[in-house]
Order: sequence, then C-alpha cells, then structure tokens
Amino acid sequence: MRHLLSLADWPREWIEETIERGLQIKRDPARVARALDGRVLLMLFEKPSLRTRLSFEVAMLQMGGHAIYYDLGTSPLGKGKESLADTARTASRYVDAIMARLFRQADLEELAAHASVPVINGLTDHEHPCQVLGDLMTIREKKGRLRGVKLAYVGDGHNNVTHSLLLGGAAVGMHVSVGCPEGQEYEPDATVVARARAMARQTGAGIEIGHDPRAAVAEADIVYTDTWMSYHISPKHRAERERRLRPFQVTADLMREARPDALFMHCLPAERGAEMTDDVIDGPQSIVFDQAENRLHIQKAILLRLLGQ
Ligand code: CP
Ligand code: NVA
Repeated sequence: MRHLLSLADWPREWIEETIERGLQIKRDPARVARALDGRVLLMLFEKPSLRTRLSFEVAMLQMGGHAIYYDLGTSPLGKGKESLADTARTASRYVDAIMARLFRQADLEELAAHASVPVINGLTDHEHPCQVLGDLMTIREKKGRLRGVKLAYVGDGHNNVTHSLLLGGAAVGMHVSVGCPEGQEYEPDATVVARARAMARQTGAGIEIGHDPRAAVAEADIVYTDTWMSYHISPKHRAERERRLRPFQVTADLMREARPDALFMHCLPAERGAEMTDDVIDGPQSIVFDQAENRLHIQKAILLRLLGQ
C-alpha cells in the first residue's frame, strides 16, 4: 500500500516526479479533468484548516471525484466510542483514499496500518508533507531549479513544516538553514535532523541548524517562516514563546541580509506582527498566495500518484 505519511518514506524520484506533475497539471488542468472519475476521498480533521481542506476538496471535484469532510469531533472515534483501527477498516470499505489531519504522527501511522486504501498526512504535530511538496513545486516554478537553492527557515524550528522542509529539501539537494532559539522546544527534532543529514550526504544538500537569524538568512534564495503558535500549542505558552521567538521575527531588515532576489514564503495561516511584519508578507518579495494556490495543483499530483493514475 502506498501512503504519504512522512517525506522520509518517499523515494527521491517520487518527490521529484510529483513536483514535475504538479507543474504540468497547473499548466494543463484539463488533462486530468476525468482522472479520478467516481473516486472518493475521505478527509478526517482533528484540527482546523482552510487551505488543506479546500485544496483537497476542489482537487477531487476538478478530477471528477468527490471529497467528504469529516470532523473527528463529531465521530464515534472523537467521542471515544470507536478505535482508530476500526475507523480505518470501516472507512476503507467506502472510500478510495483517506487524508487525515491529526495531532499525533503515531495515530496517523496507526490509521494507515489498518486502512486498506492510501492514507495522506494532511498535517500532524510532527510533519506537513503535502505543504512541502507544494512549496518545492513553488520554488522550482519561481527559481527554475531546486538543487543548490538556499532556503532559510527562521522562527519556531520544532515545527511540522520545518521538519518536512528539512526532509524534502534534503531529498532534492537544497541547502536548508534553520535559525531558531536554543532548546528542544524550539529546535527541530533530532531524529528528523539526523535523517535529513543522511539524505543530504547522498544528494549534495546542506542542512544547518543555528541560533542566529542573520547568519541563517545570509545568501538565502528563500526566507521561510511559520506561526509561533501552531494549532497544537496551548495559548498558555503564548507569552513565553513570543518572548523567545521575537528575535527571529522576519522583518524588512532581516530580508535585506538575504540575496537581493530572495523570496518570502509562509505556509499560512500567518499572524501579522508576530513571525513576520506586514511589510514583508505584503511586500514585493512575498509569494505566499502563489504558494497557497500551488497546494491545489500538488494535491492533484499527490492523489494521482497514490491512486495509481
Ligand atoms: N497551510 C495549511 O495547511 O493551511 P491550513 O491549516 O489552512 O490547511
Ligand atoms: N505549524 C503550523 C502549520 C499550519 C499549516 C501548525 O501546525 O499550526
């Protein structure tokens, strides 16, 4: 069974082919207009979503299929009345694929272990692979290449998007430089960094983790940040996190430390005045809405790969 649970599980060729397919679909969406005729995607959500929910639903519709939105809060699973395993086994009898946005990566793995259809990670606390496949497509589109491109991620490094950027960037030969506060709560997971470094040795990529935002963005082609308050983080940690993360805010001044043609990326949702200032996200270097649009094209490419089309 093919799934997309973590970018660490996907061979490099799949990542590269999916990105190329996403670009091709963007140029000519009509070619896949009937590719998933009559197929159904179940979308399980334990957390909120705008982009992931809409892009998957529209992707299924535009390829002739259908998507079902299922809020886990209203499910027997969410009410503690049914196990993940039984939910997976039952849903697999009705649908062709499952996309799930859950808190725990271990729960996603359990879901996949009991499903007899492909399972797609629509974000866990640990990873966000669909986001990063779309982001790599966007970088390829804007910069014409991936290999050798330097992406600086500045802010909360103990983060699902950061983890997937490290794994995806390593697979395609990029240089990923993370600038984040010191400490386990803010640094990327050590197992992800080790895995990304192992992959980087094969692809010629570079992986750096540091604590100086200016050093991180030096010579960067892409400056990337994400919220300091991910969906799973309790509001009671806000004040402390803002205090620790403030020096890593992406400002116009910090952008000037990157290459003159550097682009600003953010997976969204963004909190203006926190992880970046308005002039950066609304400025000429920002490509955040092109990035958001590409979620739609890449979801189609992901679905087609997993459903064998
Ligand atoms: N970037 C992203 O996944 O956004 P949503 O949380 O709105 O789906
Ligand atoms: N790190 C963010 C990504 C949102 C798409 C979160 O988990 O909330």
